[in-house]
Amino acid sequence: MESARVAGFGTSIFSEFSRLAVQHGAVNLGQGFPDFDGPKEIAQAAIDAINGGVNQYAVGQGAPQLRAAIAAHAKRFYGQVLDPATEIGVTSGATEAIFDAVLALTNPGDEVVLFEPFYDSYLASVQMAHAVPRFVRLRAPDVTHAQWWLDDAELAAAFTSKTKLVIINTPHNPTGKLFTRAELERIGELTRRAGAVLLSDEVYEHLVFDDGKHVRPATLPGFSDFTLTVSSGGKSFSFTGWKVGWHLGRRELVAAVQKAHQWVTFCSAAPFQAAIGKALELPDSYFQGFVESYTQKRGFLSAALTKAGFEVLPCAGTYFLMARTDRHRKAGEDDVAFCRRLLVDHGIAAIPPSVFYSPEHASHVHGMARFAFCKTQPVLDAAADRLAKL
Ligand SMILES: Cc1ncc(COP(=O)(O)O)c(C=O)c1O
Repeated sequence: MESARVAGFGTSIFSEFSRLAVQHGAVNLGQGFPDFDGPKEIAQAAIDAINGGVNQYAVGQGAPQLRAAIAAHAKRFYGQVLDPATEIGVTSGATEAIFDAVLALTNPGDEVVLFEPFYDSYLASVQMAHAVPRFVRLRAPDVTHAQWWLDDAELAAAFTSKTKLVIINTPHNPTGKLFTRAELERIGELTRRAGAVLLSDEVYEHLVFDDGKHVRPATLPGFSDFTLTVSSGGKSFSFTGWKVGWHLGRRELVAAVQKAHQWVTFCSAAPFQAAIGKALELPDSYFQGFVESYTQKRGFLSAALTKAGFEVLPCAGTYFLMARTDRHRKAGEDDVAFCRRLLVDHGIAAIPPSVFYSPEHASHVHGMARFAFCKTQPVLDAAADRLAKL
């Protein structure tokens, strides 16, 4: 009955772990969304929009007020100058923008370069479009590399005459890596040479720690010709359920993505567009407070994991910590088995990172687990208590 397009998908590990977490009363550090709401005045803006009659289809490309706010935000944080009429489109979350972009920019058989570990919707989108993924591994920190890193020969070999799209994510889920300017320039050079498009998923753009700098690829010299930037309001404003996303770039790229969007969802939820437009206009103090609060959460969970014997890898951005689990892993246990046991026997839910890899390369992270710290202090306290008993 199912089409070949979806037959391979199965149930995601996230559903299984969410179900097990409820069943075992686990502290849930698996799910990548906050267990608290965003700013009250932004929630109120959505309520006001509903009460004020913003309840019918929005303009397909995105409410003009929201597009104006996205343009102002891009100018404020990155110095980008964008025409809201032609260079910005709104979708139902970043996920839809990515799916639309893959549909709009690849033909069946075209190749898409993905960096492992990748956000899982990338591969599903590529598969549904009958395009072909080409994987490049981010390699874990080691004695000579303080951060996750790329092997240049492997990177270059992933590009062929069929490459049409390259999808990067910075700040990067699940590793917490910020791509450096040098890495982005190299990826850009290869993308340009292949005549492909670089899709840059920046949903964690405001979660950057320790005075680190998020480099928006589209702002590097020459990149605006071939780069489509994707982001959304979910992570930056702690309203992941609202699913307001957007894409920006050269008008031809945005128009192509909008062609798919008009038949995928047509428009994103109107009242939430109004509220996210207000959120993007929040003062700098909001964004500073946001980073401070997450810096505290990162420090707390990192200390608790370290004390419990995990080796926590550096996290420069996002709200995830990757940790090596060797001290607690039983012989022969992979990350899925380890995380299942951590949940069932110890009441702590974490995500096995091999779900962000192709099956061929999954063993690269069998000794790791991903812990989310987008949680309230009582939940982090409970996690620390349980970790201390390991
Ligand atoms: C890297 C990355 N991109 C995109 C998304 C989804 O964004 P949205 O909720 O706006 O669709 C997520 C959510 O976890 C993510 O981690």
